[in-house]
Amino acid sequence: AAPSQDDLKRIAAHRAVELVQSGMVLGLGTGSTAAHALNRIGELIRRGTLRDVVGIPTSKKTEAHATAVGIPLSDLHAHPVVDLSIDGADEVDPLLNLVKGRGGSLLREKMIEGASRRFVVIVDETKMVPRLGGSGLAVPVEVIPFCWSHTLGRLRSLFDGKPGFDARLRRATTAGDGGKDEPFVTDNGNYIVDLYFENGIHGDLDLISDKILRITGVVEHGMFLGMASSVVIAGKDGVRMEDK
Ligand code: A5P
Repeated sequence: AAPSQDDLKRIAAHRAVELVQSGMVLGLGTGSTAAHALNRIGELIRRGTLRDVVGIPTSKKTEAHATAVGIPLSDLHAHPVVDLSIDGADEVDPLLNLVKGRGGSLLREKMIEGASRRFVVIVDETKMVPRLGGSGLAVPVEVIPFCWSHTLGRLRSLFDGKPGFDARLRRATTAGDGGKDEPFVTDNGNYIVDLYFENGIHGDLDLISDKILRITGVVEHGMFLGMASSVVIAGKDGVRMEDK
């Protein structure tokens, strides 16, 4: 049978975990693809193949998962330099720029992956895009809850007039909250404004990044520009690695 999308995510994750060596400080990503990497690292630790590794989790969810599979944890206080981070992405462009944060963990991801000597992104081939923001997924922006609609308005004004542009506060869609339409809250107690670009982001990404970050009330955004060292791409025809 043809591999499922989840099979491809696992294949990419396992390929990246081949780069992990005993003694390394690891950045542990968040999401369904990174979860396969956590399982694999845990397995190799249990087998005794990997020794003395510590993992720095990029979210509370990953912290719980890593603990469950037996990966010893640390943080950037104890280990300000990370040897290798492995994480998924929502989109990857031809220059290996990324959009991340569909799971809402972009801030911790960017801190930990930005502190890494090597950052390896793991994706199935559907994540490869000619232009960031072009696949109908949002570019997330983490904002402080205080007067969030003011911050949303300032973000909107950056892209005013761009056809198909929209900015919306992310809502929690968790089942079991009684259908309440509460804002989604990040691990850091902040909100997320999702930016939608119908035909992708046009223009100088670094400049756009700077403009977003200059808005008071914005904490961070989900464009990871020039950060990935390599991308492992799993597709129907096999797995390959692209380096920056
Ligand atoms: C988490 O906030 C995100 O950055 C994830 O890394 C990204 O959304 C990829 O997730 P999947 O592997 O589940 O697609």
